[in-house]
Amino acid sequence: MKINDNTILITGGATGIGFALAEAFVKEGNEVIICGRRENKLEEAKSKLPQIHTRVCDLTKDKEREALYNWVKTDFKDINVLVNNAGIQRMVDFKKGISSLTEGENEIDINLTAPIHLSAYFIPLLLKQKESAIINVSSGLGFIPMAIMPVYCATKAAMHSFSLSIRHQLRDTSIKVFEVIPPMVDTELDKGARDERGQVDKGIPPAEVAKATLKGLEKNEYEIAIGMAQNLRMGARTNPEQVC
Ligand SMILES: NC(=O)c1ccc[n+]([C@@H]2O[C@H](COP(=O)([O-])OP(=O)(O)OC[C@H]3O[C@@H](n4cnc5c(N)ncnc54)[C@H](OP(=O)(O)O)[C@@H]3O)[C@@H](O)[C@H]2O)c1
Repeated sequence: MKINDNTILITGGATGIGFALAEAFVKEGNEVIICGRRENKLEEAKSKLPQIHTRVCDLTKDKEREALYNWVKTDFKDINVLVNNAGIQRMVDFKKGISSLTEGENEIDINLTAPIHLSAYFIPLLLKQKESAIINVSSGLGFIPMAIMPVYCATKAAMHSFSLSIRHQLRDTSIKVFEVIPPMVDTELDKGARDERGQVDKGIPPAEVAKATLKGLEKNEYEIAIGMAQNLRMGARTNPEQVC
């Protein structure tokens, strides 16, 4: 796909990988819209990138997803790219029973339900454009799961499956479906859990993910596996029972 002159909505675009993508897309001459729940993070992003448009939105709430869709449809008629990037990651210990699962935010709502619903909202709009794309951010952990975060890994495996299906459904349309598969990236995704576990390696910088993503998009590489994620993606095929 062309990586300039697009109008792009990036969910969770105020921080981490989403913000790095916003920066890279703005640099290439795209119109970029970002959304997230925290207004202060959106303001911070806008102070660094004054060209971007921001919207406070909790994507776990259908009313807010619908309002986001209506706002974009009205104010950004040329929208042709949806980046499903927003996500959370939690450790869940099933030995502790239901409380471990329900005491925090619901990963399925944000990592899986939200991108599926947003795709359903936006696909009819994207179909009207000559060239358009959906870019789903999954994870290397969708291919080889990490046992301490079972729900997260399951949502990312599901995003891989969903990407395959809609890519096939949309194969004769203007919409290309990409999946970005990052390795471990140095962001606030795990809310300090890596530090608590004493994990030294924090992963690659988000800017590296953005650079590899734009390169992959330009080459129409539909599964953009980055760094270590390339090994996880292949490893899952050679040893399907592997867990880390
Ligand atoms: N970091 C890694 O190692 C890694 C590896 C592979 C894949 N990924 C994937 O990359 C994506 C981006 O994560 P990141 O690493 O860049 O972490 P991040 O900086 O924490 O970004 C996540 C973004 O999602 C937004 N978000 C979370 N819940 C939301 C909700 N209910 N409604 C709207 N926005 C919401 C957050 O903003 P608010 O909190 O303000 O809403 C935040 O801006 C995620 O899908 C993640 O699974 C990350």
